[in-house]
Amino acid sequence: MAKVLVLYYSSYGHIETMAKAVAEGARAAGAQVDIKRVPETAPDAVAKAAHFKLDQEAPIATIADLENYDAVIIGVGTRFGRLASQMAAFLDQAGGLWARGALHGKVGGAFTATATQHGGQETTLFSIITSLLHFGMVVVGMDYGHAGQMTLDEVTGGSPYGASTITGGDGSRQPTENELTGARYQGQKIAETAIKLHG
Ligand SMILES: Cc1cc2nc3c(=O)[nH]c(=O)nc-3n(C[C@H](O)[C@H](O)[C@H](O)COP(=O)(O)O)c2cc1C
Repeated sequence: MAKVLVLYYSSYGHIETMAKAVAEGARAAGAQVDIKRVPETAPDAVAKAAHFKLDQEAPIATIADLENYDAVIIGVGTRFGRLASQMAAFLDQAGGLWARGALHGKVGGAFTATATQHGGQETTLFSIITSLLHFGMVVVGMDYGHAGQMTLDEVTGGSPYGASTITGGDGSRQPTENELTGARYQGQKIAETAIKLHG
């Protein structure tokens, strides 16, 4: 059975919700799925002052975990048009894995969130995908089988590069059904690819 890791960082819970949907999709494809998050690097006082969601139940990942999965799907919100530093700091510890080629041929994917529609979803997804390619991973995005990414009837995240959600400037908008469907779809597609390559 293929093993899939959904690895995320979330300050306010939007990416946490998307991670659960990605995991649901991967499980539906028949993979064994774990959800883990990366450590918070902001000082406690800063995290509390900024009202970070500090009660997230997912266990904290170690860099060594990455080697134990056939697919790693990374979710992290936008910071100034690229991935948040908490995730970058985690991935920057993967030099040893990179040097050994330990992640070559594993399947990877990315999902994200921004406050605004044009606040950098695609650039953030590519900032994640760039790292996945450096690790030698096979990147799977979100194909147009998730037709909901094409709708003009509602504001929605989702693109060929990965699932996404839009939170609003005050974070009050939660992932919509269409965005969660996209997240499930991408999780399923990545798990199916991992099963074909490694299962
Ligand atoms: C320092 C900082 C920079 C941000 N930069 C952007 C940005 O460039 N574009 C944007 O649309 N949202 C930006 N945001 C909003 C976050 O992307 C948004 O709060 C996050 O993706 C929500 O996901 P989460 O609830 O999982 O943390 C920024 C937020 C912070 C705290």
